[in-house]
Amino acid sequence: MARPKPGQKTVLVTGCTPGGIGHSICLEYHRRGLHVIATARRPEVLSELAELGMSTVALDVTDAESIKRAHDEIAEINGGKLDILVNNAGRTHTHPALDISLPDVRATFETNVFSIMAMVQAFIDQLITARGLIINISSLSSISPYLFGSVYCASKAAVCAYSRTLRLELAPFGVRVMVSMTGTVKSNTASQGHRTLPENSLYQRVKHIFEWRLVFSQNNDTMDTTTFAKRLVADSLRPERPGWLRSLFGRPDWFWYGGLARSAWFGHTLGEWVVDLGSWNKFRMPEIIKLIGEDPAQKKRK
Ligand SMILES: NC(=O)c1ccc[n+]([C@@H]2O[C@H](COP(=O)([O-])OP(=O)(O)OC[C@H]3O[C@@H](n4cnc5c(N)ncnc54)[C@H](OP(=O)(O)O)[C@@H]3O)[C@@H](O)[C@H]2O)c1
Repeated sequence: MARPKPGQKTVLVTGCTPGGIGHSICLEYHRRGLHVIATARRPEVLSELAELGMSTVALDVTDAESIKRAHDEIAEINGGKLDILVNNAGRTHTHPALDISLPDVRATFETNVFSIMAMVQAFIDQLITARGLIINISSLSSISPYLFGSVYCASKAAVCAYSRTLRLELAPFGVRVMVSMTGTVKSNTASQGHRTLPENSLYQRVKHIFEWRLVFSQNNDTMDTTTFAKRLVADSLRPERPGWLRSLFGRPDWFWYGGLARSAWFGHTLGEWVVDLGSWNKFRMPEIIKLIGEDPAQKKRK
């Protein structure tokens, strides 16, 4: 197993399957001279990264035993000192709020939210030793309505709220927290098992819009994974600056990047109504209201 050289910084990344954001983040930290510990729940997908000299470790972020095993294995690799933890593993969840199944929702929260809490608790000893940095991968959907993505939005908003308070609580220990407000980025997310509309869904008349939405992140201003990773890594390695100067001249607490990130940031800065209005048009609400309004069952209710 590859080991860091003396004095070399270490970074642990979750969810490093080729084609996804985590994989590109590993390549970029490696290129910048850090020792990368790449992890995945299916460790066989990490062989290419191992060949490049990275350490590779099996890790299912929803499994407490797997986290414990990975923690101990990684302590052997890095001597108990971790400079950067990137909580990247995640899953998408596109389904109308009226059609969700709660076990499925719980599984999404396990992967997108509770796993991050568990990883922080498990690795905080190594992070404090390094006075390290935690990077949590959130999404623009945490601040904007993402049609048929209520569960995903809620999970990513939870990551933002959690990270914001975590930042305060870890400050006395010198551990910093950065959140990626990720825009649309090319990845495997669109090839994950898609949910379907139930036969009795109230949205059957706009099934084509639901299907368009399933792959939205891969077809709208989508940034390539390498470009995204290069900027995230570069920004995470910028010097620490005090107070509000930080985001302008140093490592930002909030990293806004990826397709549509600039306009989302701008709208968010101007006010919530701007984002709501943008989403209303982007997600074809006039068309949806017209088509559902033409449904005889809905007409009868009027
Ligand atoms: N792509 C975008 O437009 C976009 C936008 C905003 C935010 N994000 C966020 O970016 C992060 C990376 O996603 P991506 O777009 O690169 O999608 P992706 O290609 O599907 O990558 C997701 C990664 O998470 C892993 N994962 C899922 N459940 C896991 C578990 N229980 N334990 C360990 N690993 C697990 C997946 O492993 P398997 O290959 O084994 O499934 C995969 O490696 C996610 O947090 C996502 O929500 C992406």
